[in-house]
Amino acid sequence: VSRIRTAHLQRCKDRGHRFSMLTSYDAMTARIFDEAGIEVLLIGDSAGNTVFGYPSTVPVTLEELIPLTRAVAGSARRAMVVTDLPFGTYEESPAQAVRSAVRLMKEGGAHAVKMEGGAYYAEHVRAMTQAGVAVMAHIGYTPQSENTLGGHRVQGRDDAAQRLLDDALALEEAGAFSVLIEMTAEPAVRAAEEALRVPTVGIGAGGSTTGQVLVWQDMLGLGEGRTPRFVKKYADLRGVVSQAAGAYRKDVLDGAFPAAEHVFDQ
Ligand code: KIV
Ligand code: NA
Repeated sequence: VSRIRTAHLQRCKDRGHRFSMLTSYDAMTARIFDEAGIEVLLIGDSAGNTVFGYPSTVPVTLEELIPLTRAVAGSARRAMVVTDLPFGTYEESPAQAVRSAVRLMKEGGAHAVKMEGGAYYAEHVRAMTQAGVAVMAHIGYTPQSENTLGGHRVQGRDDAAQRLLDDALALEEAGAFSVLIEMTAEPAVRAAEEALRVPTVGIGAGGSTTGQVLVWQDMLGLGEGRTPRFVKKYADLRGVVSQAAGAYRKDVLDGAFPAAEHVFDQ
């Protein structure tokens, strides 16, 4: 099997095909998703929530995402492996962005990085691309900026639609191989997908993007509480795992586990 590369994703757009992307933070899910044909695996800074139990993505560091990236990149044989640049690891300068991206590639084995931010960050994208880093831009709702965006709000409505388009075009011009658009009004997303040469990837962005991405714990129903409207739940892993854990505990307390077949030399 040959590795999915940026050219493959571009071909999807050029031929009117789609591609799928899921988060992954460990070797086992990476292997399962890879074998299921998922084209892109993302070590998202959503690991802050899903792995580390933080209230947001803001505290996540390179030191945390590097070992998760190594696990995923070492396990996926075909998928492209993309890792987020965490908050605080790129904003200061294009040089800081290059330095952080290089660490994700050298120490983690990432094939590409994803960076939140609009046209202001075009020079960061240009510097990384020129250094040999494949960059996926991330616009629309950008969770690292929740404090300046005024919380968890749908982006790209009314006057903001033109800004979204300007951001997308500036990031493409700077070299981004793809633009991810999060939680944005559908008309603005459609305009961006149509104006760009490179493929867009959507989450909470409607069906006009070339790719779709979800956080795997949301998609498989592992999390507690309600999931956002844009998530489709393909399984109820929380129910499955919870029931199994309860059954195991009951067997242990009752002495029903281990049984004869689990015991050596009995
Ligand atoms: O961190 C993440 O998982 C992401 C996706 C939700 C796009 O950035
Ligand atoms: Na992210």
